[in-house]
Amino acid sequence: MNERPLILSVTSGKGGVGKTFATINVAAALARTRKKILVVDCDLGLANIDIMLGINPSHTLQDVAFGNKKLQDIIVATAGGFDLAPSSSGVKDMAQLLFEKIEMIKSMIRELSGYDIIILDTGAGISEVVLQFNLLASKNILIINKELTCLTDAYSMIKVMFQVFERDNFSIIVNTVASEKEAVKIFTHINSICRRFLGFDLDYAGYIIQDDLATRSILTQKIALLDAPESEMARNFRTISNNISSWQNNHP
Ligand SMILES: Nc1ncnc2c1ncn2[C@@H]1O[C@H](COP(=O)(O)OP(=O)(O)O)[C@@H](O)[C@H]1O
Ligand SMILES: [Mg+2]
Repeated sequence: MNERPLILSVTSGKGGVGKTFATINVAAALARTRKKILVVDCDLGLANIDIMLGINPSHTLQDVAFGNKKLQDIIVATAGGFDLAPSSSGVKDMAQLLFEKIEMIKSMIRELSGYDIIILDTGAGISEVVLQFNLLASKNILIINKELTCLTDAYSMIKVMFQVFERDNFSIIVNTVASEKEAVKIFTHINSICRRFLGFDLDYAGYIIQDDLATRSILTQKIALLDAPESEMARNFRTISNNISSWQNNHP
């Protein structure tokens, strides 16, 4: 095991594109390959990983930010075989966390050991909190779909991260597509825009097919990958997980 975990963020310009759903399933797929995975719910104001997984945590990042809990104290095991640092939802102070508190949580994440990969599931958009968690990650996975506004928002996120923080290490997952062909077309489109206007290429992590299995699994608080392991969607998550594993092998 690498001593320092690989830290990744799952992020998007536009909201509701499937970040949390993808995070859970990719984490479960990675955990199936015997890796120690931690997911941190970094959508601080609107956290919902605990709900998607049907768990009711007694402590959350709120206790880390405002109480005397350490990050290690709030981590719980999940049915997906990965660990979770849950956050709380509907708490205004968490949605508007002060810079020092964000820095404190970031440094606690940085100091964690015993994990191969830490995945930060962020909120949408280019707010300071989202940018800060993206900055903590060594690679940002952007979830996009075919909607034009989703593509333009993703481009805005990439542009800000590049121009403000000199970030050029992004990987794309194309969600809710009808086929791999459609996903590659969407990826090629956003990649050509980045190459033309920002001067670098994006990495392609894979795609996720559009399937009611997503909605069903969220409704029943199950993990699609484990609930329907033979589905095309589960195969998509395993492919993405394999691609992510290859980054881990190359990580310094
Ligand atoms: N591949 C997919 N096929 C069908 N529906 C999907 C897919 N991915 C996500 N969804 C739906 O999109 C909604 C938003 O997903 P979520 O992960 O909460 O988005 P985000 O975290 O980006 O806000 C969910 O209700 C889910 O059912
Ligand atoms: Mg989410």
